[in-house]
Amino acid sequence: MKSLKLLISLIVFALFLSVGIGNSIADEKKGKALVESKKCGSCHKMQGPPDKTIADVLKRKAPDLFYAGSKFKIEWLEGFLQKPTMIRPAGTVYVNNIKMGEKKDEIGDVKPCTSALSKDEAHEVAEYLMTMKEPTMKTGVIVDDKFSKAKAKVLFGQKEGCSGCHRDKADSGGTSCPTLYNAGERLNPDWVFDFLKNPQKYDPKIWMPRRELSDEDFMLLAKLIASMK
Ligand code: HEC
Ligand code: HEC
Repeated sequence: MKSLKLLISLIVFALFLSVGIGNSIADEKKGKALVESKKCGSCHKMQGPPDKTIADVLKRKAPDLFYAGSKFKIEWLEGFLQKPTMIRPAGTVYVNNIKMGEKKDEIGDVKPCTSALSKDEAHEVAEYLMTMKEPTMKTGVIVDDKFSKAKAKVLFGQKEGCSGCHRDKADSGGTSCPTLYNAGERLNPDWVFDFLKNPQKYDPKIWMPRRELSDEDFMLLAKLIASMK
């Protein structure tokens, strides 16, 4: 009797699971069709390989998305795709948007992503983007535990000068690159670790410097960025 009950509950569980998996595959398919019909690929590279020359990087209209499934948190993607916010204060390629002002250089008119999907569409597109993974990235590397924020901040600020290019607070830090003060909501910490170790693995000609640090220091930086919310 007991084993019959167990068998029935196992079958129910398996059915439940297969319906769930079936749903998410259907969502991914719908998401792929939406990415095509909305022409996301007219601005974003949806497939590798990355640009191989600086000239090509300078022509870039929008960030690459072909490793989006490794880079982003799905919850953030779903929100962003409905109501895109500004991530790069001076645009995707800042040198294309800098104009000479009266006294100093000024940032020209920069527009955010044009994606404006409904809630359901955003869910489907996010499910599809999450299938686009960088195969060499290790997962489960950055664990959410205690770390020395003071040490990490010295690395980020004084020692490695990350804030020269990135904003770590809404009102301070460089404006030429993606803002990081809310990157904890946006980025997968395992991706941040992998990217910091070798930014050129993802984008061979990008001007983010490759640092010679220990894994421990890269982990500290990844944890600091994960805490920026
Ligand atoms: C007209 C060009 C254009 C189109 C079309 C477009 N985007 Fe974007 N998208 C941008 C720009 C420019 C940014 C960079 C915004 C910033 O950094 O502030 C961006 C940023 C993004 C980001 C964040 C990327 C990152 O690395 O920070 C995602 C995700 C994204 N877009 C998804 C989409 C999807 C999905 C579609 C189609 C539904 C789409 N976009 C259509 C121009 C576009
Ligand atoms: C010379 C300028 C420069 C410096 C210094 C720099 N970066 Fe970057 N960083 C970049 C550029 C350029 C990108 C890619 C921009 C893009 O995707 O549009 C980038 C991307 C990133 C990203 C991904 C953000 C996203 O949303 O796509 C992270 C995380 C990051 N940098 C962290 C750091 C850390 C930590 C340091 C210090 C160790 C650092 N950066 C130093 C220029 C810089």
